[in-house]
Amino acid sequence: MKDIAGRGQWATKTGFVLAAAGSAVGLGNLWKFPYMAGENGGAAFVLVYLGILVLIGMTVMLAELTVGRHTQLDALGAYKKLSAKWAWVGGMGVLCAFLIMAFYTVVGGWAIKYFLGSFATAAANIDFVGFITAPIEPIIYTLIFCVFTWIIVFFGIGGGIEKASKIMMPLLFIFIIIIAIRSCTLPGAGAGLSYYLKPDISQINGGVILAALGQVFFSLSLGMGCMITYGSYLGRDSSLTQSAWMIPTLDTAIAFLAGLAIFPAVFAFGMEPGQGPGLMFATLPQVFGQMPAGEFFASIFFLLVIFAALTSAISLLEVVTAYFVDEKSINRSSASVIGIIGIFILAIPCSLSMGSLAGVHIIPEIASMNIPAMGFFDAFDFITSKLMLPLGGLLLCIFVGWVWGTDNAINEITEGGISSFPLAGVWSILVKFIAPIAIFMVFLSGFGVI
Ligand code: PHE
Repeated sequence: MKDIAGRGQWATKTGFVLAAAGSAVGLGNLWKFPYMAGENGGAAFVLVYLGILVLIGMTVMLAELTVGRHTQLDALGAYKKLSAKWAWVGGMGVLCAFLIMAFYTVVGGWAIKYFLGSFATAAANIDFVGFITAPIEPIIYTLIFCVFTWIIVFFGIGGGIEKASKIMMPLLFIFIIIIAIRSCTLPGAGAGLSYYLKPDISQINGGVILAALGQVFFSLSLGMGCMITYGSYLGRDSSLTQSAWMIPTLDTAIAFLAGLAIFPAVFAFGMEPGQGPGLMFATLPQVFGQMPAGEFFASIFFLLVIFAALTSAISLLEVVTAYFVDEKSINRSSASVIGIIGIFILAIPCSLSMGSLAGVHIIPEIASMNIPAMGFFDAFDFITSKLMLPLGGLLLCIFVGWVWGTDNAINEITEGGISSFPLAGVWSILVKFIAPIAIFMVFLSGFGVI
């Protein structure tokens, strides 16, 4: 379906919600959330995450969707239309999409390898470290993941992204529930449940809070113009307020279920919960390997990971594609090709940084700010999640609160007073004061300044 400007539009309201939830639900939920909880004190992290989600996540979500629907433009164009001086903030978002995709597609490739592996041998037989440190094989899987992503984006908003999300998201929901039930009913699951659900407040510090803040932004696809872009394909009759709580709620439900799928099983088989990025790939297949019908559950699980990763990757590629279409007047097919080629080129050093380029650090260690030395993969993750996304969110709040103005925003949200927005007053205070100040404080404490 094409709108007047020929940019494309969501065909249905559910289609939009599923696509936006598809963007939010991704590796951030299944891969990152559980391992971050594992590294940052389990339930204590979950608690901080929930607080930030409600206070900042939902506030920024509504602000982004509103800017998008109002301007009907890509991230950079949206800022530029409302205030030319702010265009660079949108530009930073487009850059951020490239950087996230560079490591995201690598992990997406790993998921394809594990999915195929769960048929051929058993995923448990894959040597995780051996595989990701190899020079060629992971790059080939990254390329395969890039091609799938590109095909969906190539077919456009209604015909590609919306259709793909409508199929993959409901399946994903069913699969994760099956896996969570299996995991929670294993003998010995209780230890994992209490680790995941009983908070130990003493574990909370500045670093944990910054990690949770970055994770909220990453998981909700906020702070880089993704929800501006998706919002720009909305017609005016859509309810922004409803989307702004439904998308985060769905996202959190899936992240929570992912923890329920992973921790009880990890504890039931006596494995280590705080082992970082390898948790999902190195540990879970071992867990499946010891379960009755484990190969079946492993293949379902990794198919789920692929679906989740794809529906997010298409939204990231869409940010880049929309930028080229709206700002550079390039047609959609060429725009998506340019985007995915640029991304793949950046993904190569990310993949290699696991092995051959392991010694190459693009960020040096800064001990006084809790920053370790990092190679391409870790550096791109760090720069985006802990710096660019929260900063993008902070700037968006200042922009909507003080430059464009909450009155204009509320006018867009309520379609000029036609629909009601009872929380308008609360939201204005959150956007203008609470969210930006909170993000700023978290930065300071996370980097050890206060
Ligand atoms: N939200 C996605 C996830 O959790 C990642 C993402 C970040 C997608 C930013 C789009 C924009 O996996």
